[in-house]
This record gives sequence, structure tokens and C-alpha cells, in this order.
Amino acid sequence: MIPKQVIEEIRHRCDIEDVIGSYVTLKRAGSNRNGLCPFHSEKTPSFTVFPATQSFYCFGCGAGGDVITFTQKMENLDYVAALEMLATRAGISIPNDPTPGGSPTIPRRRIYEMNLEAAKFFRAALFDPVLGREAMAYLVEHRRLTGATIKRFGLGFAPNDFGMLTNHMKKAGFTEAELIAGFLSKKSQRGTLFDLFRNRIIFPVIDTAGNIVAFGGRVMDDSKPKYLNSSDTPGFKKSRVLFGLNYAKEYCGEELILCEGYMDTIAMHAAGFQNAVATLGTAITAEHARLISRYTKRVIINYDSDEAGQKAADKAMQLLDEVGMPVRVLKLQGAKDADEFIKKFGNDAFHSLLRSSSAAFDFKMDKSLAKYDLATTDGKIRAARELTSLIAATHSGVERELYLNTASARLGISVESLANDVKRARMRQIREARQKQSRDLELTARHFGDRVNPDAAKDPAAAAAEEVVLGLLLLFSEHRKLCATGTITLTPEDFFTDLGRRVFVAVIDAEKSEDGFSFSALGEQFSPDEMGRLVRLQQDRQNLNNNGKEVLVQAVDTLISLRRAREARASGDFTSELAARRARIKKKQEGN
Ligand code: UTP
Ligand code: MN
Repeated sequence: MIPKQVIEEIRHRCDIEDVIGSYVTLKRAGSNRNGLCPFHSEKTPSFTVFPATQSFYCFGCGAGGDVITFTQKMENLDYVAALEMLATRAGISIPNDPTPGGSPTIPRRRIYEMNLEAAKFFRAALFDPVLGREAMAYLVEHRRLTGATIKRFGLGFAPNDFGMLTNHMKKAGFTEAELIAGFLSKKSQRGTLFDLFRNRIIFPVIDTAGNIVAFGGRVMDDSKPKYLNSSDTPGFKKSRVLFGLNYAKEYCGEELILCEGYMDTIAMHAAGFQNAVATLGTAITAEHARLISRYTKRVIINYDSDEAGQKAADKAMQLLDEVGMPVRVLKLQGAKDADEFIKKFGNDAFHSLLRSSSAAFDFKMDKSLAKYDLATTDGKIRAARELTSLIAATHSGVERELYLNTASARLGISVESLANDVKRARMRQIREARQKQSRDLELTARHFGDRVNPDAAKDPAAAAAEEVVLGLLLLFSEHRKLCATGTITLTPEDFFTDLGRRVFVAVIDAEKSEDGFSFSALGEQFSPDEMGRLVRLQQDRQNLNNNGKEVLVQAVDTLISLRRAREARASGDFTSELAARRARIKKKQEGN
């Protein structure tokens, strides 16, 4: 737990307009600032920064929060890591003492220290002439790595032993809880710890700040699993890390090569392609795509030539397209992956392949054309239909024109008639997208499909009343006091949705605590999506004229009578439900 004063200090010193302004071009719009949302793709700005409340909200995608939430989302960090980053920016140091209560969570810094110590152990084992003999032979003779490459990537070897690492780490001062949390050791049924990585080549995974965040361990034969990877730990989320980016970041400003595996990345770096990175055994995520888009201008996808690899390439293309990255796809022939290709055909062959890598459209066009028999009229029509809808989905007019020429040549159909079909397909796609958008909006309006607060759809009236109460409590300390002191009686049980209840409890607890309430501190308990929702509740209230006590009292009454009605329904007592409903209607009429 980071003290509230420190959080407030960080928030105070990191002006939201400055911080967001360093990622997004902001324009003045009255007292607020507008820009294109960095969290979804849009052409007209619906992303708004409110300097007065030091918050942001996107009216398009619902992302919102304070400067900490923004940093979390933008840099793919958790709450504490985002705070650390902002603290560094502001020149504030975060006190590093563990909670006196003894919280079981292990600070990420400790995990990094532990991983560094383990990496040294693994490396020493690899370079040990006895312990590491077989492993070194595997790397040098079988995988053809040089000593320099082995050292550069910090490769190591986990000995074939159940306790060597664990014992070493304990001697170095790491506790059992830490070793388990860091995915280095596991507890056996007898209650003793044993090493998780055994008899495997070790690949350290290093983040762009230079921390060792995880390990991958490969067997040296055909046993399964081929790779063992650290699970997500306090310092590591697979969906946020790219293997090799710590080295590639110096070389990938213009172009980045995205591949599938540890060995592909290493082989490419060794062959002089130091702009290569890999996702870690998982499919590429939107978070990866955002991360990539911050480091490079365009991407060459170089996935395995098998079916799974090609499927993953399609997915990567789509995700990278969404963050505006131009993408090309490398087609490997005669080898299953880049590592094998380079070994078989050499650096020069790989280099010329890179230069000839086809643009994403050519790749898709080849795939479409291969499906149909172009010698028949029917095949030609089908292929043309598929290509026109492919071209229609391209945003840029220049690109559409280029593709039309290529497609026309390949199909032997005139550019004009293809262009007409593309135009029609485009109108249809736009119409469908609009319809989908308005459907989505309608659904959100009715609370259906609300991922952040799924309970809301079950009782929209209760959800609406909750939103009023919470918006007021988040904004005004006098309202918080009324509830915290019991002047207004409102209990967690009066809330219908789980989110509402949690927010209420957190707000009142904070209000009663020594440090008092701080909106930013909520980020510790609520996800960035939930923080976005809380900002929206505040914004909704702020746009209204009347935020006085009577509004709060009325919404609280509604909540309480809805709860009574619910309980009555549950116990089958309909008369009291009717009475409660009548009372509510009467109150409303009096209010008007
Ligand atoms: P591959 O099976 O293609 O392995 O998996 P590779 O990278 O070519 O490795 P070599 O050349 O056989 O040594 C691609 C990536 O998927 C992940 C790893 O990150 C691997 O590099 N993977 C694969 C796992 O995490 N676990 C596995 O069991 C297999
Ligand atoms: Mn391979």
C-alpha cells in the first residue's frame, strides 16, 4: 500500500494535461481539451481531458480516469507500476516499506531482484564445464549459437536437480513465499520446495526497462512441454511483454520484425536483424499491438509457415491495422521458421526475402486467389467478390486505387468494373458499421452488454439511482460526510449492483480513514475500466445544475425502497411491495 499523501502528491505534480499531452495532440475546447482517443481508433476527437477535475474521458469508448489510470492504460502497467513511473517523472520517491499489517503481496522490485539472482545462477550453471556441458553443446553445436550471442541474451541452464536453485536462492536471502510467487519454486505435497525449471535451457525475458520479468525454459530433446514459461507473476504479464524488445528497441525505429519464438528472435539478432521481437507463446494481443506501435513505424510479420502460424499472422495483421501500423508479411518457403530458414539458406537469402516481403494486401490476395479456379467464370466471379470486399475495407483511398490495379491485372477484369463493385461494397460496409454502432449505443444505453457493470441490466432503475448516489459521493465531500456519519442512512446492502456496492464501501471507508478520501487512491482497488466508469458518473453529475442534498436524499430513498421491494418479492409479500411502489410514485409527484 502506497500512502495516500504520496499518491496525491504524485497526482498533484503530474498535471494530467502535460502527461496526456506528451502522448496525444490536444486542442483547446472551452475549458477542456480534446484529442483523438489513443485507446480506440477514431477520426473525430471524442477523447476529452478535464483539467479542472484532472480527469479524462472518451465519449467514444468509455475509457476514463485520472493521470494514473491513463498511464496504466497507455503504458500497459498495473496501478503501482504506473505510480512508480509517474513518481520518477515528478522526481518523487515512493517509500518502500512493507505494510506493518504484513500484506502477502510481494513487491515487483523484489521479484526483479530475485530473477536477477536466479539468472546469474542459471548462467553460471551453463558456463560450468561439468554441470553445463550438455547444455552448452546443445546451444553451440545443435543450435549454432556463438558465445557472444549466448552472453548477449543472458542464456542459462537449469540443472537436472530438484533443489539446487531453491537452495541457492534461500541462501541469497529469498523467502519461500517469494520463490513461489516468482514462479521459481513450487511446494511439494510433503510441504518442501522444489525447483520448477529443471534440465532446461533458460531464456530470460527482459522488459524495456532492463528488468528480468520472467524465464522460458526449453528441453534439449523432444520431451513435453517443449517450453516451460513463468506464469504471470506480480512483475510480469505475458500479454504486455515482447521477447527481445529490450535489445530491438534501439534498432526498430523504422521497422520491426515480429516472430513467434525465442529461438527465432535470437537467430535473427545473431544474423544481424536486431529489430526482431517475439510474442511469448501466446497469440498477439491488442496490448502487444499498442506496445509495438510506440516503438516502430511498420511491422514485418514473420510467423511460422504452418497453419497455426498463418492464422496467428492474420490475427496480428488485424490488431496492428487497428493501431494504424502498416504491415507486411514474410512468406517462408522451405523452412518452418526464421531460425531454420537462416540456418539452411543463410543471412543473405533472409535479407532478400525481407526486402521482397509482400504487403498485407498482397498476402491476403494470394490467399483468396489460391482458393478459386480462375479458369472458370464462376471461380473468377467468386474471387472478384472476395477481393472487392477486401479492397473496400481499406481505409486509404490511395491504397484502394493501387490494390484495384493489382487485382484487375490478376483477375483479368477491367479496373472500372472492379471499382464500381468496390464502391458498392464500401457503401454497404459503412452502412453496416453505422447500424452496428447505433445498435451498440442503444444496448449500452439500456445497460445491456455492460461489461463494467454487468448487474445493471437486471434492474436499470436501481442502477440509475446508484449512479446518482455514487456520482454525488465521488464529487462532494459534504455528501460523503452525510453518509459516513450516518446522517443519511445508507448501507452497502442497499446497493443492487456489485460494482455499486464495492464503490460505496471503498468511498465510505476512505472517508472514515485517517487519510481521508482520494479519488486516485481508488485506482488501487478498481480496474482501469471501472475507473473509467467512475469518471463518467462524475461527469454526468457535473453537467447537471442541481447536485444538492435533496437530490442525494431522493436517490437514496429510491435505492432503499427498491431494495425493500426486492426483499418483499423474495419473501412473496406483494402487499408491501405495492405499498412501497405507491409511496415512491407519490414522492415523485410531490417532487415535481
Ligand atoms: P515453436 O514450437 O515454434 O518453437 O513455438 P520454436 O520457437 O521454433 O523453438 P525451437 O526452434 O523448436 O527451439 C514458438 C514459441 O511458442 C512458445 C515459445 O515462446 C516458443 O518460442 N511455446 C512453444 C511455449 O511457450 N511452450 C511450448 O510448449 C511451445
Ligand atoms: Mn524453431
